[in-house]
Amino acid sequence: MDGTLTYQGIELDAVTALALLEWQAEMGADEPISDDTVDRFELAARPKPAMPQMPVSQPQTKTPPAPADAPDDPSALVAEAEALAASADSLAALAAVQEGFDGLELKKGARNFCFSDGNPKARVLILGEAPGDQEDREGRPFVGRAGQLLNRMFEAIGLARDAVDAEKALYIVNVLTWRPPGNRDPSPEEIAVSLPFVRRHIELASPDLIVLMGNIPCQAALGRRGILRLRGQWTEAFGRPALPMTHPAYLLRNPAAKREAWADLLSIAARLDSGAG
Ligand code: URA
Repeated sequence: MDGTLTYQGIELDAVTALALLEWQAEMGADEPISDDTVDRFELAARPKPAMPQMPVSQPQTKTPPAPADAPDDPSALVAEAEALAASADSLAALAAVQEGFDGLELKKGARNFCFSDGNPKARVLILGEAPGDQEDREGRPFVGRAGQLLNRMFEAIGLARDAVDAEKALYIVNVLTWRPPGNRDPSPEEIAVSLPFVRRHIELASPDLIVLMGNIPCQAALGRRGILRLRGQWTEAFGRPALPMTHPAYLLRNPAAKREAWADLLSIAARLDSGAG
């Protein structure tokens, strides 16, 4: 064996092949969805079958079909999620009812329920987006590369998820507790169905302040996206002071943005020092 392999007629050395694999994983193509390989180049080249013609008399609907994993009736599921969340009087009870809730199709494709990590008594709660591959395997939020950067960022202002002292601790929660396939963004329906659990989670943990880590938590908590405009500006979410920040995954791709993230970390440290809740 000479350390090279052939893919689509191109010879690749091991280092290039590994770099290509890592790039695919980074883009979210990190698991096979079928046991058989499919050559999509060959499929694309095949002539497409003619589309059946719609009879003229048949009414045409403008509503696009729901994705296969969209909740059936979000409002009924939101009501069910609200009732379950309200029934929980502790974090352990909330974790149990949320894990048992079958209103999200995502649950079927996920390996593990990802409730939280860190110290629930922490003054600072970080609200992230959704589990990725590593989080799905371990059942804990922010344990992959982005999570390691998140640890280093907060350690720089003296906060850590494993700190016992609430003053120095972090508590980490995601909007979604089940991994979306291929790391796609959660749909608005999935966010709406998850929100009652997030709200109750924050009520029970009762942090002094919340960091909205990226666009999805901003969408869930503030009803707005546009993290590059929102970041660094204190606002209120779930009745508490909240600071939107750029997600560590974004910082990994855009190291120049770390400068602004550092300013945001200093702003959190100053707010904590001032004793403000
Ligand atoms: N990104 C998130 O927002 N949360 C995680 O748990 C992992 C990556």
